[in-house]
Amino acid sequence: MFLLPSLLSLTLSQGRGSAEVHPKISYKVCTKAGCTTKNGGIVIDSEWRDIVTADGAPCLKSNGDFDIPNVCKDAADCSDKCLLNGYTYSKASVSTSGSAVRLGFLNSDGSIGSRVYLFDEDLKQYQLWKMVNKEITFDIDTSTLGCGTNGALYFSEMDADGGSSRFPRNKAGAAYGTGYCDAQCPRDGKFIGNNANVGRKYGSCCFEWDVWEANAYATQMAAHPCGVNTPAYVCESDCQKCDTSGCANNPYRFEAQNGVKNHPFYGLGKQVDTSKKFTVVTQFISSNGLDSGTLKEVRRLYVVGGKVVETVAKIQNGKPYNTIGNDFCTNGSAGDDAYMRLGGDAAFTKSFQRGAVLAISLWTDGSMGWLDEIDGGPCTSPGGKEGVIAKNKNSYVEYSNIRYGDIDTTY
Ligand SMILES: *[C@@H]1O[C@H](CO)[C@@H](O)[C@H](O)[C@H]1NC(C)=O
Repeated sequence: MFLLPSLLSLTLSQGRGSAEVHPKISYKVCTKAGCTTKNGGIVIDSEWRDIVTADGAPCLKSNGDFDIPNVCKDAADCSDKCLLNGYTYSKASVSTSGSAVRLGFLNSDGSIGSRVYLFDEDLKQYQLWKMVNKEITFDIDTSTLGCGTNGALYFSEMDADGGSSRFPRNKAGAAYGTGYCDAQCPRDGKFIGNNANVGRKYGSCCFEWDVWEANAYATQMAAHPCGVNTPAYVCESDCQKCDTSGCANNPYRFEAQNGVKNHPFYGLGKQVDTSKKFTVVTQFISSNGLDSGTLKEVRRLYVVGGKVVETVAKIQNGKPYNTIGNDFCTNGSAGDDAYMRLGGDAAFTKSFQRGAVLAISLWTDGSMGWLDEIDGGPCTSPGGKEGVIAKNKNSYVEYSNIRYGDIDTTY
């Protein structure tokens, strides 16, 4: 009998506290023969959850650090004793309806934004997306997102099970939004791999392909490779291995470089008119037109008012570059060797063959100047996080009608 509590805490380590109910969402899988509807769910990242002991007491101090030594004594012990609670999605102003998911900017508890993942409710893991020779399409309402905000949709090569098979202390798994990683190798995760991230000792790195990072004023897509043939990994002193700035296409920047005045392409009332809903198509073109081929380039199309519109091409040495891949990232983007050095198209091919997780988020870093200021967009500094919040109390991003499938079958 007296053994039971310790056995119990072993089974529960980095485990599940209160129950979790995923909001439902439908999406489509398309071929030339047509589209079929798939019913899935979304799950919010583990960072938004309360972390509690088996008794339901908080595991963290008010500053967000693990409560050492009162609750647990070190990274392993805190991982063993602390659980992730189920989430009340309305708290983070996250909601779904049919094929739509909406993320609000300001949450009822004063926190900002959210990050959710598409979840396969049949396999009970994140939906894995294999993108070579495929496209992903969605409708977006980004009309309310002001300067300094970023409504994003992107692929990160997270473990489909959230890391629970590779890291036995992680009992909560994908159903509780664990295992986030990206090319910045973020160190802010409360649990990373097997351990509680005491002192932010660990970071979590992986390939990241940013299909969409945008507000109503600016947009970019960007590829961030993360070393040749490297799936998600836990880093300590080696957290600088990915292409952090990425190889990017931002139409506003390209217009200026091409000498086009007044930035007619993207924004409120512009050609891609962000005051209305529009459709974003992103095609992962294969070298030989087969799923087994090598990723050659990634192409962006928009559908605006029923018309297909190509994204802005950067003209470099007389050649137009409107896709992201080896050629643009070496010959078209000035002097940045990171994309090729970290594996380029060949490494992304392997990454997408292993499969990536679809992350949808709304956030701010307090300025997003890299996205929407100076040469990236028309914004001026919004006055830090407080300034962004003041102007975006009711802002939201809504993605709907997500479609995945063979090239030219989803729009
Ligand atoms: C860069 O451009 C040259 C000339 O067009 C081409 O031969 C080469 O393959 C390009 N580099 C890459 C990595 O595609």
